[in-house]
Amino acid sequence: MSTDKKKKNVKNYNSDMLVSSKTSFYIAEAYKTLRTNLMFAVAATEDAEFKNVFVLSSSLPGEGKSISSANLAIVLAQTGSKVLLVDADLRKPVQNKLFAASNVRGLSTVLVGETVLDVALKKEVRPNLDLLTSGKIPSNPSELLGSKAMRDLLGELSGLYDYVVVDTPPLNVVSDALTFATHTAGILLAVCPSICKHDNLKKSVESANLANVHILGAFLSNTTNQAIGLSYNKKYGKYGKYYYKKYGY
Ligand SMILES: Nc1ncnc2c1ncn2[C@@H]1O[C@H](COP(=O)(O)OP(=O)(O)O)[C@@H](O)[C@H]1O
Ligand SMILES: [Mg+2]
Repeated sequence: MSTDKKKKNVKNYNSDMLVSSKTSFYIAEAYKTLRTNLMFAVAATEDAEFKNVFVLSSSLPGEGKSISSANLAIVLAQTGSKVLLVDADLRKPVQNKLFAASNVRGLSTVLVGETVLDVALKKEVRPNLDLLTSGKIPSNPSELLGSKAMRDLLGELSGLYDYVVVDTPPLNVVSDALTFATHTAGILLAVCPSICKHDNLKKSVESANLANVHILGAFLSNTTNQAIGLSYNKKYGKYGKYYYKKYGY
């Protein structure tokens, strides 16, 4: 592979991918619509142990979980609610890159008792938004995420914040998200139509049902306007095309 091709394949996560005052009206509006629908869905979840914690996932890699969870957390925080974004994709973390934050301490180091929560939290990465990056990549991510320590931590975070948004690995590749999502309001599924086919989505929904995990809903992400039949705002298409690359777990 030529050096140019290699460069193109490197995912260049940075803060330009996050909603800001420079973001096009249509993109910001799409996230706000998602926020409104999510708030209604969460409010209707009565029996969840941690009602204000929700998990963002998808069937496969590259569907837009990480970028969508970061942007959703930002627009949720814009309402004045105190929000925490947690990077629970311990194998392929990207929130530290999106927010240009250090990842020496984070979820993994808190879970093994190496760091206290208050030291690991990155405070006010945006107004009203704190960030818990993944921390160092551990040798046993599934065990850590399915542990009692994770459940206890979610309980603590649920009490500290109005909303907790958790970014996770894809459901059809590793079952990490399902091990703790059962205690939360549920899973919000990012669906990229060019990556996720009907069978893939069906498999995710079946796995969630088996694990007794509530599905809050699904939204289209990482897609072009042409793909979903819209004619306005070409920006999504350009953005996705430039950065898109599948990666393996
Ligand atoms: N909402 C979006 N609009 C445009 N492109 C997106 C969007 N979400 C994701 N992408 C593109 O898809 C790629 C994968 O997104 P990412 O959030 O890392 O997916 P995942 O976390 O599901 O693996 C990104 O590099 C970006 O180019
Ligand atoms: Mg991701």
